[in-house]
Amino acid sequence: MTPILTVEGLGKGFVLHGQGGLALTVMRDLALDLRRGECLVLAGPSGIGKSTLLKILYGNYLAGEGRIRLHFSDGPMELGKLPAHAWHALRRDVIGYVSQFLRVVPRVSTCEVVMEPLLARGADAVESRYRAETLLARLNLPERLWSLPPGTFSGGEQQRVNIARGFIGEHPLLLLDEPTASLDAANRAVVIELIREAKARGAAMLGIFHDEDVRERVADRLLPLENYMDDPSRARIDASQLLQENDHA
Ligand SMILES: Nc1ncnc2c1ncn2[C@@H]1O[C@H](COP(=O)(O)OP(=O)(O)OP(=O)(O)O)[C@@H](O)[C@H]1O
Ligand SMILES: [Mg+2]
Repeated sequence: MTPILTVEGLGKGFVLHGQGGLALTVMRDLALDLRRGECLVLAGPSGIGKSTLLKILYGNYLAGEGRIRLHFSDGPMELGKLPAHAWHALRRDVIGYVSQFLRVVPRVSTCEVVMEPLLARGADAVESRYRAETLLARLNLPERLWSLPPGTFSGGEQQRVNIARGFIGEHPLLLLDEPTASLDAANRAVVIELIREAKARGAAMLGIFHDEDVRERVADRLLPLENYMDDPSRARIDASQLLQENDHA
């Protein structure tokens, strides 16, 4: 089966203007492909560039170099060359994203936050509300919270609103940045179910999960990002080697 997403030669660095223009390379020559119905899990220690990769794929960060392509039946679309308005349609119809933290808009109720991706596509309001409420109920968010803006909700409540908003659109490609980080075991199990249902309908997913249990139950493959790190200052020093050399001295 041909992949729906391919990434080749991806490189990304940041220039830290506050630090006199210091350049930080986060990844170099990263390649991946992703097929329908599979979940590829990004692995590696904190700071290695997992979230950065998802942000590049969602168009929040520009890639430094490389080629990112989505493959449609009538041919590939190169994401590096898209104008801003094309990203709007892509996010509405193709790429869903569950960021680690909910971006709260004041005065918009939880239910409306969750329905919004469907309304943006012109879906029926009654049907959209019903689907939002069904998801919120599955995620055990108390009904009394549905009409309130989520700004004052707990971390785990906000995360569940974010998950409902991310999954409601049934996008063919889903980017998940630690969606279970603030959840208890019961709600983690619901998210695992949602991921499995998304796989069953053919969605491709790229996810970050620190929780070993969640990872084992959703991952089809792991992509360790250590392989694509190119910052000598972060290379490990082999301490045992150092001791041996001292022994000879
Ligand atoms: N906008 C930015 N400007 C400068 N540096 C950045 C920016 N975004 C990320 N970085 C740097 O890029 C590196 C990778 O960050 P990233 O958030 O992708 O890590 P991560 O693997 O997701 O880590 P964690 O597991 O802690 O979430 C870090 O060193 C970070 O400081
Ligand atoms: Mg991260």
